Amino acid sequence: MKPTGIALAAAAISAAIAAASAGGMKADPRDARQVAQGKQVYADHCAACHGAGLEGQPDWRRRKPDGKLPAPPHDASGHTWHHPDAQLFDITKRGTAAVAGPGYQTDMREFGSLLSDAEIWAALAYIKSAWPPEIRARHDRINAPRQK
Ligand code: HEC
Repeated sequence: MKPTGIALAAAAISAAIAAASAGGMKADPRDARQVAQGKQVYADHCAACHGAGLEGQPDWRRRKPDGKLPAPPHDASGHTWHHPDAQLFDITKRGTAAVAGPGYQTDMREFGSLLSDAEIWAALAYIKSAWPPEIRARHDRINAPRQK
């Protein structure tokens, strides 16, 4: 009886640790597992608009006839890397309209009802993993004041 109880307790503790680190909630482009998960999330949910190679939609700076912006690239040529992780997470989870304010018309929906927080962080880790080292370093500095 006893050893089973101890084993269960140990299993519960390691499950809690696993949950906590999954919920540790950051996008780490050096974490191969997170990046691999994010690559899949990105292919399934983001690539249709942001491009299979993160290149965004053509002429992405110019509003379309419907007044909405095309999807910007997530590679080094876009401005994704100008925003700290927390903001990228917020945009992805709540959608651009929630972040930009009421009435803003956009094709960037919220993903909070579709993806877990861990999946959103993974997609961001994948995006970051595609940035060249100097962009990653600059982005780390943008993150620094807000993140431990
Ligand atoms: C239906 C098309 C579409 C899909 C699918 C989509 N996006 Fe977007 N996304 C957009 C558009 C359009 C914008 C620009 C919104 C605006 O500024 O009005 C955008 C903007 C963003 C931004 C802000 C970028 C910046 O530089 O300000 C982030 C971050 C983002 N998307 C992440 C994601 C992630 C992660 C996924 C997949 C989970 C995703 N998007 C899926 C269309 C899409």
